[in-house]
Amino acid sequence: MAQYINCYNNYESKDLMEAALEIRKGNLVLFPTETVYGIGANGLDSEAVKSIFTAKGRKQDNPLILHISDKMMLKKIVRDITLLEQKLIDKFFPGPFTIILKKKSIVPDVVTGALDTVGVRMPSNKIAHDLIKLSGVPIAAPSANISGRPSGTRVEDISNELEDKVSYIIDGGPTDIGLESTVVRVINNEVHILRPGKITSNDLLKICDKVVIDSHVLGEVHSTDKVLSPGMKYKHYSPNTKCLLVYSRDNKFISKVSEIENDQKNVIVLCKNHNTRFFKNAIPMGESLEEISKNIFTLLRKVDRYNADLVIIEGVSKQGLGLAIMNRLIRACAYNYIEL
Ligand code: TXA
Ligand code: MG
Repeated sequence: MAQYINCYNNYESKDLMEAALEIRKGNLVLFPTETVYGIGANGLDSEAVKSIFTAKGRKQDNPLILHISDKMMLKKIVRDITLLEQKLIDKFFPGPFTIILKKKSIVPDVVTGALDTVGVRMPSNKIAHDLIKLSGVPIAAPSANISGRPSGTRVEDISNELEDKVSYIIDGGPTDIGLESTVVRVINNEVHILRPGKITSNDLLKICDKVVIDSHVLGEVHSTDKVLSPGMKYKHYSPNTKCLLVYSRDNKFISKVSEIENDQKNVIVLCKNHNTRFFKNAIPMGESLEEISKNIFTLLRKVDRYNADLVIIEGVSKQGLGLAIMNRLIRACAYNYIEL
């Protein structure tokens, strides 16, 4: 059973010392970041990193992000940073931003699934920053969830599935953003978005001339496809109940969903607050993209409680933060998607 540290309202960095010592000893710690919770281990210790894969039931070829607290740590783990990569680092570190860089040999193969690149992120969340700093090592951390399930954005959502697998749970309250970091890789001086997040293509365009949104961000991945990020291949964010994503630029969403509701017995509708009044069983997911982003993983975990035959989820515009929301929702619905 894990030890619990409450940092919800305030804390002093010495409160994290014991958890940092567990990281140094090779054990796992669940901790908050500004995006989602992470399940972390010493990123330079192969055995410790292996235990993350076991705890999550994660495929070995799906690489982990190394979390750093300062640029000195960055120098230890990556090499040959280009001018454009350096500009991106200077602009978006610390923050909800991961960049794929060439790794140095100090980074164990188990972290990167034997790739010669490594994803690096410097979280802006103070608890995450202090934990990494006190540990003195980069922390390898995937999102805190059993593989395939929605990522954890509140301790109460994930403690059941992970408390037996970690030494410490650090509770920092609900995470600010609610969706994982934007993952990018620079190829031929173009910035490729491999996973959309809070840092959008418009944000990136302030630093570079060309941004390419990888075709798998919204498109389905087929078994023969070559992917730039192994994580794209795997099942993600899925409730156990069957889900359908419906998006319409105009008001057709309401009539379409009412039609499905009348045909099927037990339907739950996850929709924007102002649309709940149109449906029999509706769950509000927020109004703004920021609210929806913050709530969505908790809601995806909640829908299974209703034993519904079908969950219909209202899609959002694919602009800005909306692209990140749609990327997660399309996967949660296993590409079961209607655009009207
Ligand atoms: O916000 C976040 O990024 C959270 C918090 C905890 O920092 N972490 C997170 O980690 O979402 P994870 O492991 O759930 O997702 C990392 C994604 C995966 O899709 C993985 O395939 C990709 O990043 N990735 C990691 N290293 C990579 C590499 N060297 N090349 C390509 N993709 C990589
Ligand atoms: Mg994940």
